Amino acid sequence: MTAPLKHSASVTVDVALGDRAYDIVIGRDVLASLGERVAALRPGVRTAIVTDRTVAKHWLEPAEASLAAAGVPTSRIVVEEGEGSKCYATLTQVSEALIAAKIERNDLVIALGGGVVGDLAGFAAAILRRGVDFVQVPTSLLAQVDSSVGGKTGINSPQGKNLIGAFHQPVLVIADTSVLDTLSPRQFRAGYAEVAKYGILGDEAFFAWLEENHGDIFTGGAGREHAIATSCRAKAEIVSRDERETGERALLNLGHTFGHALEAATGFSDRLFHGEGVSVGMVLAAEFSAQLGMISNDDATRIARHLSAVGLPTRLQDIAGFTQEGLADADALLALMAQDKKVKRGKLTFILLEAVGRAVIANNVEPQPVRDFLQAKLKA
Ligand SMILES: NC(=O)c1ccc[n+]([C@@H]2O[C@H](COP(=O)([O-])OP(=O)(O)OC[C@H]3O[C@@H](n4cnc5c(N)ncnc54)[C@H](O)[C@@H]3O)[C@@H](O)[C@H]2O)c1
Ligand SMILES: [Zn+2]
Repeated sequence: MTAPLKHSASVTVDVALGDRAYDIVIGRDVLASLGERVAALRPGVRTAIVTDRTVAKHWLEPAEASLAAAGVPTSRIVVEEGEGSKCYATLTQVSEALIAAKIERNDLVIALGGGVVGDLAGFAAAILRRGVDFVQVPTSLLAQVDSSVGGKTGINSPQGKNLIGAFHQPVLVIADTSVLDTLSPRQFRAGYAEVAKYGILGDEAFFAWLEENHGDIFTGGAGREHAIATSCRAKAEIVSRDERETGERALLNLGHTFGHALEAATGFSDRLFHGEGVSVGMVLAAEFSAQLGMISNDDATRIARHLSAVGLPTRLQDIAGFTQEGLADADALLALMAQDKKVKRGKLTFILLEAVGRAVIANNVEPQPVRDFLQAKLKA
C-alpha cells in the first residue's frame, strides 16, 4: 500500500552555491521549527527579527515563541509595511537597531516578511559589521517563490528601484506555506504570477499542472507546497548556475521589462502590484514573440488564458486608471523601459518566448518595433 501524501510533510530544496549553499525548507507550520533549526545551524547564536507591522500582527509571536523554546535569544525590529520602507531612512533605523541589539559578526538577522522586509533586512545584514549572516522567513507568496531565494538584497534610491544593494545569500530559508493564509487574496494572486512565470519560462509540464491545479494552490491544499517547491527549485537551479546574472539568470526577468515600465507608469502604487505588472508583461512578451514569429499565437493565447483564469490582469486595459496619463502612451512606456537596468546603448533586452516552457534572452531589440507593438495593443 502506498502511504497517503502527508500534508504536513516538509520539502527541502537545496541551493547549491558551494560553501554558501543553503536549504529552503517548505511546508505547512515549518515556522514552528525556526528556533530548532537556527540553534542547530549556529549553537549559541543571538538573533534579531526584522519584520513589518502587518506581518508582526500575525506571525511575530509564533516566530519568537519558536526561538524562545529552542533557547535562542532574540529581539524585534518592526518597520512600516510597504515599498516605502526600502529607503535610506529605514535602513538607518534597522542598522542602528541591530547594533543596539548587540548583533555581532557571528549572530543572525532574521527577515520575517514579504520581499520588502527580505530585501531591506538582507541588505542591512550585508553591511552590518561588513556582513552578518541572515535567515529568510518569507511570508508572502512572492517572497517564498522569488525574493527570498538568490541573494539579491537592497533598497530603492529616489532615482530608481533597487539601485542600492548587494548580493548576500541567506544561510537558511523557512517558507511556511500556512502563513500565506493571512495574505490578502490580491497579494496572493500577484505572487502567483511569479509561480506561473517558472512554468512559462522553462517548464511546460509545470505550466500544464498549474492549469489543472491552480485552485488547490489558492485554497492551501497540498498543491501549494508542490508549486512553491517547484518554483524554488527552478530559481535555485538558475541562481546556482549564474549567481551574478551574467547570463541565464536574466530569464527570470520574463515579463519584467514591460512590467517595470507599467509599475513606473502607475507610480509603484496600489494601482498595480509587482506581480500584476509581471502578469501583463508576460502576456505582452508572449504576444510580441508571436508577432516576431517566434511562438505560435495559440501558445500566446494559452498563457493569457491561464493568467486570466486566476484573476490576474493580462491586458494594458485591465490596469486601474488605464486612460490616465502615462499608461495609454506608447512613447512614455518606451521611455520608461529605456530607463531600466536592462538597456544597453539604446537597444533593449527582452526575454522572449519560443514556446510555453522555452524562453530566450534577446539582446539588441530595436525600440521601434516595440513601440509599434505597444501602439497596436493600446488601440486593441
Ligand atoms: N531580491 C529579489 O530577488 C527580489 C525578487 C522579487 C521581488 N523583490 C522585491 O520584493 C518586494 C515585493 O515583495 P512582496 O510582494 O512580498 O511585498 P511586501 O513585502 O510589501 O508584502 C506585501 C504586503 O503583504 C503584507 N504581508 C506579507 N506577508 C503577509 C502575511 N503572511 N499575512 C498578511 N500580510 C502579509 C505586507 O505587510 C505588505 O503589506 C519589492 O520590493 C521587490 O523589489 C525582490
Ligand atoms: Zn518579479
